[in-house]
Amino acid sequence: MAVERTFSMLKPGVLQRRLAGEIMARIERKGLKIVALKMMAIPIELAETHYAEHRGKGFYDTLISLMTSGPVVAMVVEGEDAIAQLRRLCGATKADEALPGTIRGDFAMHTPRNLIHASDSSASAEREIGLFFEKAEICPWSDGNDGWI
Ligand code: PPS
Repeated sequence: MAVERTFSMLKPGVLQRRLAGEIMARIERKGLKIVALKMMAIPIELAETHYAEHRGKGFYDTLISLMTSGPVVAMVVEGEDAIAQLRRLCGATKADEALPGTIRGDFAMHTPRNLIHASDSSASAEREIGLFFEKAEICPWSDGNDGWI
């Protein structure tokens, strides 16, 4: 499997619910690597650019309003097949379809508050990483544990 980078974001509400550590721990325990990390309030223009493909959909205004309602934790996550692996850890987008054991299945009751964003393709990952991070903010590391994971 190819090593990939994906973009992820803990949505507003995660910090307030004190779930950031729990969610990041799940990503780490899976064996994925967090190679960039920052907490930030997203300017509305950035939220609109990030979600541009959904402009005009019924949930768009709610989505932009929720995503700009408090700080997020933005991350670049690296690992073999990282894009699909992280999407599986997150669970289904719709909260009532997300299975127990997944982040959304365990912690989300309502789709608008589904806690975490993760890129859905390599093109999205590249675009989203570029929107949120400068190249110099990405810090690759290794610990020699690859054979154990
Ligand atoms: S679509 O129409 O199938 O392409 O949309 P989908 O992939 O299911 O969702 C796109 C993003 O919108 C979020 N979403 C919502 N936000 C607020 N309210 C409602 N009702 C809602 N429905 C979907 C969904 O979580 C996706 O955002 P991310 O950040 O990827 O989770």
